[in-house]
Amino acid sequence: MSRIPTLADLGDVGGKRVLVRTDFNVPMEDGKITDDFRIRAALPTINWLTERGAQVVTASHLGRPKGQPNPKYSMDAVRARLAELAPGVELLENLRFDAGEEGNDPAFVAKLIDGIDLYVDDAFGACHRAHASIVGPPRTLPSAMGLLLAKEVEVLLGLRNDPKHPFVAVLGGSKISDKLGVVEALLNAVDSLVIGGAMCFTFLAAQGYPIGASLWEPDQVDTCKRLLDESKANGKTIHLPEDLVGVDANGEFATFGIRLPDGAKGFDIGPGTAAAFSDVIMEARTVFWNGPMGMFEDPRFEAGTRTVAQAMADTKAFTVVGGGDSAAALAQFGLDDEVDHVSTGGGASLELIELGDLPGLEALRGAPNAK
Ligand code: 3PG
Repeated sequence: MSRIPTLADLGDVGGKRVLVRTDFNVPMEDGKITDDFRIRAALPTINWLTERGAQVVTASHLGRPKGQPNPKYSMDAVRARLAELAPGVELLENLRFDAGEEGNDPAFVAKLIDGIDLYVDDAFGACHRAHASIVGPPRTLPSAMGLLLAKEVEVLLGLRNDPKHPFVAVLGGSKISDKLGVVEALLNAVDSLVIGGAMCFTFLAAQGYPIGASLWEPDQVDTCKRLLDESKANGKTIHLPEDLVGVDANGEFATFGIRLPDGAKGFDIGPGTAAAFSDVIMEARTVFWNGPMGMFEDPRFEAGTRTVAQAMADTKAFTVVGGGDSAAALAQFGLDDEVDHVSTGGGASLELIELGDLPGLEALRGAPNAK
C-alpha cells in the first residue's frame, strides 16, 4: 500500500497554485463565528505553503445547504476571519452550494482544479466523506496531506493500534446507535470503557434498572446486553453511573441513586459517579473522550462533564478529545489547552478509530505522486 504523501513530497511549491481543502465548518450564531478553532487549526499548513512561495486557494463546506446557494451558509464570515489570520489567502464559496460536491461529480472536480497545480487535504473533519473536493483532486493532481491531517491521523491511529495501557475510553452523548461501531472497535483496544451521557440509560435498562422517563433506545437494549457480556468475558470493564442528576416527575431538579422513579429524567451523572469516573481517568495512561456526560449547556447539569473535563486536564495520561461537543465543553470550562490533542473531527475521528482508514486518506494514497 502506498504511503500518504506529505507536504515535502510536493517538491518545490514556489509559484504554484495550491488548492487546500480545509474544514472551516465552524459553529455560527446570527452570522457570527462562535468558535474559530477549525480555522486556526489550518494555519500551520497554509503558512507552510505561503512561506515557500505558493499561492494558496482554500475551499470548505459550511453546514448542509443541500446543493443550493443559501446566504445563511455563505463563507463571508469565515473569509473575513481568514483574512485576519492569513492575509492574501483565497477562500472559495461554500462547496456544498453545488450538488456536485456531495455527488462527487467529475465535472465539479474539473471546475475546482481548473488552474490549480497541486492539492493539499487538511480537512480532517470531512475526510470520512467521499465528496468531490476530498476524493476528486488526488486522482490527477500531485497531492499531500496537510500538517493538521497528518497529526490527526498519527494521534488517532496511535490510539487504535498502539495505546499505552491502561487505555480508557470515556463515551457520552445521546445515542448508542450512532456510536456502536466505534464502541465495538474501542472494546478491542481499551482496558475499560466509561459510559455517561444519555446513552448510559440504554445500558442501565439492559441491566434491569428503572430509568424513569429518561432518553433511551429500546431497540439497542440487546446490543448493550451483548456488549456488557462480551466485555466481561474478555476481562474489560464497562463503568456505568451509580448515581444521577435530573428532574423529578414535576420537572424539579433532583438527585437520584441508580434507580430513577416513574416520570423522572436523568440529565447528568451524579457526584459519586463523577468522582469514580475521575479516578479511572487519573489512573489511566491513555484516555480518549468523546461526548459530554450530560446536558452541560444547562448549568444545573454541567457538573458531571466539568468533573470529567477537569480529570482530563489533571491526569498524567496522554489525553485525546474527539467530537465537537466534548471539545466545546472543554472550551466552556477553559480547559482546552490542558489536554494533549483536541481533534477537529467529530464523525471523522470516530470513523478513523472504528475503521482505521477514511475515504480522504485512501484518495491521497492513490495520488500520482504517492509512492
Ligand atoms: C463536521 O462538522 O463533522 C464536518 O465538517 C463534516 O460535516 P458533515 O457532517 O456535514 O459532513
